[in-house]
Amino acid sequence: MRAVVWKEPHKVVVEQVEDPKIQEPADAILRLTTAAICGSDLHMYEGRTPIEPGQVFGHENLGVIEEVGPGVRMIKPGDRVVLPFNIACGFCFNCVRQYPNACLTVNPESHSGGYGYAGMGPFRGGQAELVRVPFADYNCLKLPGRPGDEYEDDFVLLADVFPTGFHATEQAHVRAGDSVAIFGAGPVGLMAALSARIQGAAEIYVVDCVKERLEKVERIEGAIPVDFSQGDPVEQILDLRKPMREKIQNLHPGSGDKMPGVMCGIDAVGYEAWADDAPGGRQEPNQIINDLARLVNPTGHIGLIGVYFPEDPGGVDEDAKKGIFKFPLGQVWNNGISIEMGQAPVKRYNEYLRDLICNDLAKPSFLVSHRLPLEDAPDAYEKFDQRVEGYTKILLKPQQRAA
Ligand SMILES: NC(=O)c1ccc[n+]([C@@H]2O[C@H](COP(=O)([O-])OP(=O)(O)OC[C@H]3O[C@@H](n4cnc5c(N)ncnc54)[C@H](O)[C@@H]3O)[C@@H](O)[C@H]2O)c1
Ligand SMILES: [Zn+2]
Ligand SMILES: [Zn+2]
Repeated sequence: MRAVVWKEPHKVVVEQVEDPKIQEPADAILRLTTAAICGSDLHMYEGRTPIEPGQVFGHENLGVIEEVGPGVRMIKPGDRVVLPFNIACGFCFNCVRQYPNACLTVNPESHSGGYGYAGMGPFRGGQAELVRVPFADYNCLKLPGRPGDEYEDDFVLLADVFPTGFHATEQAHVRAGDSVAIFGAGPVGLMAALSARIQGAAEIYVVDCVKERLEKVERIEGAIPVDFSQGDPVEQILDLRKPMREKIQNLHPGSGDKMPGVMCGIDAVGYEAWADDAPGGRQEPNQIINDLARLVNPTGHIGLIGVYFPEDPGGVDEDAKKGIFKFPLGQVWNNGISIEMGQAPVKRYNEYLRDLICNDLAKPSFLVSHRLPLEDAPDAYEKFDQRVEGYTKILLKPQQRAA
């Protein structure tokens, strides 16, 4: 079969690899109809993770089951399913506690598994014609309809970015009436903004510097784009909040002055953040946590959904190469702010988010910018990596052939 294979930093190719086979009784084989490229793939693409040449990329996988092993009970050939990017067993200590992002049995090297990802086990990705699905009963989310229908591009986003954005709002404790600032208007930031809307937030600010992405923010009811190339994003949000402080917060003594920022802050950028004063230029891995420490009110909450890896061969300095980042812990502690972080447990949310999609209450595919055959992946990776020409979210269609 054909697959997207990593060769060296900034180089992927589409080449023939061996078809996957059923290896365990609980396995299934999925034939992909859509496989998305993710901002997380770019960390590997750029050589910012320890990864071996030959890795097949792709952890956002949607398709139709081709074959199942003898131990699979619920899933059958012909079923349309989407896979959480986390691979999990469903029965270990962490899985039963609803942390499939930290499954203890699937990855011999660590506490989490995933498709086609550095450090997440010996699993091939789905930017290919076929992919092997371990523990298929647990890892497949069944879907209604047919491949290519009007929900195809919404359903693929259930593999990662929609549940991940939703998890970010849980990490940041977003509740009805809250004020929320989200740094990053990539797919994860946009899905966090949509999720903040679903959770009932009253104010949603989304920071980025890429024009097409800031335009997408306006597609989310009530969300306000903030362009950090136009000045300090923290100051901009404090200014935008002024009318709210004067009109509502001042009804409580002291709260207008002492709570000028937001209650919930989300980092949807991670360690590859650009410095606020050098958009698209110099990287500053501590930028977002420092901005959030200035912006989140006392007693507020911060969610770090953007990634920080323990090893980064391309880190900006010796500390960053070892995953050590500086931030004002004293100030955050003094303000009594909670910080939650880590990989999203997709299965905790994907069923409910699917049902919002099926009832036309959420249409996450507004963020999709490109639908391409597999053969176009090398070019798409290059452009997505540079965030040019409106490349926001790319969906690969492995059953289409290039023109
Ligand atoms: N925790 C998880 O389970 C999980 C899952 C998926 C993705 N992620 C991570 O979430 C992050 C975002 O993913 P994505 O797919 O949206 O990535 P992306 O790279 O497409 O988006 C990141 C955005 O951040 C913007 N940005 C850069 N510096 C900034 C700054 N100083 N202030 C504000 N915005 C800035 C960029 O312009 C870009 O639009 C990545 O780190 C990704 O690996 C985490
Ligand atoms: Zn992803
Ligand atoms: Zn498990």
